[in-house]
Amino acid sequence: MKRVFSGVQPTGNIHIGNYLGALRQFVELQDENECIYCIVDLHSITVPQDPKELRKHILDVAALYMAIGIDPKKSTIFVQSDVSGHAELSWILTCNSYTGELSRMTQFKDKSKGRESAPAGLFTYPILMAADILLYDTDIVPVGNDQKQHIELCRDIAIRVNNTVKKNTFVVPDGRFLKSGARIMALDDPTSKMSKSAENEHSRISLLDADNKIKKSIMRATTDSDGEIRFDIENKPGVSNLLSIYSAFSGRGIDDIVAQFDGCGYGDFKKELVAITQEALAPIRKNFDEIRESEELIKVLKDGAEKANTIAEKTMKRVKNNFGLGY
Ligand code: AMP
Ligand code: TRP
Repeated sequence: MKRVFSGVQPTGNIHIGNYLGALRQFVELQDENECIYCIVDLHSITVPQDPKELRKHILDVAALYMAIGIDPKKSTIFVQSDVSGHAELSWILTCNSYTGELSRMTQFKDKSKGRESAPAGLFTYPILMAADILLYDTDIVPVGNDQKQHIELCRDIAIRVNNTVKKNTFVVPDGRFLKSGARIMALDDPTSKMSKSAENEHSRISLLDADNKIKKSIMRATTDSDGEIRFDIENKPGVSNLLSIYSAFSGRGIDDIVAQFDGCGYGDFKKELVAITQEALAPIRKNFDEIRESEELIKVLKDGAEKANTIAEKTMKRVKNNFGLGY
């Protein structure tokens, strides 16, 4: 069995980009693999968080994991800060990383743009992510396309340590990216990716959005003026993004969908997309409401942390030993 690890930040507004790009894969993988899914709260404090909101969002993501179909009997669900190995390994990896490679991360460049000085956590964030992955001897990391560069860095660090410190210190992981849905763009600006933090709520569809909000956001999504439904990211980014969402939710190929809507207007196409999206999200919302209020949730996280910690401790022992740390 292969080991799978991934994480989502508890920062609220988990959207269909997160779902179609990453979360959907989490469910698919759990039957054939040993899956570990983390709520990466230490990552979320790279930008200031309100402590009360953060705690609420941690439980929200845990409940969402279960609401989309991650089964705690099959997979391990836990909160990052419950396992101290993440921060510990992160320091060891920091000492085996270079400022040059970190400066090249596009996410850091985007987030620090225009600032004279950026929070150091934003800069070292990919190292903590590498620690998350390497701590569990992970084989496969299902994520959205925007994380490709971070996965590459994680592999580089693992290979470097294996070459310079000791062979087989780390398992070198592979990223797993979906063909459709790996990069969902903002509905109001299809040239930037759908994000949790964008000010305009109609730029995204959150997984827990009510039917009328889903409808509003899709009906006002940016398209273009040529009126033809066709996939062409360069010239028709808005329509192409809607086609990607349609394809990801329906499981149908883009060509098939384009053929179906041949000669139709954007309005008709959007209406169908509204229906498909509402249908996909309704059961998630219903499950979420039940799970979020249940006592089982805390028990799942406690059990998850225990299981994760057992694996993490074993890895840390090996890593410390290979580095000559301790006595
Ligand atoms: P985050 O919101 O940064 O915690 O991301 C959680 C997961 O969702 C990661 O695997 C991301 O790659 C994925 N993701 C985030 N935004 C998008 C997007 N707009 N399209 C596709 N996947 C995304
Ligand atoms: N950095 C990821 C994101 O912003 C979240 C994340 C943190 C992650 N640690 C991880 C994803 C480990 C996969 C594996 O989306």
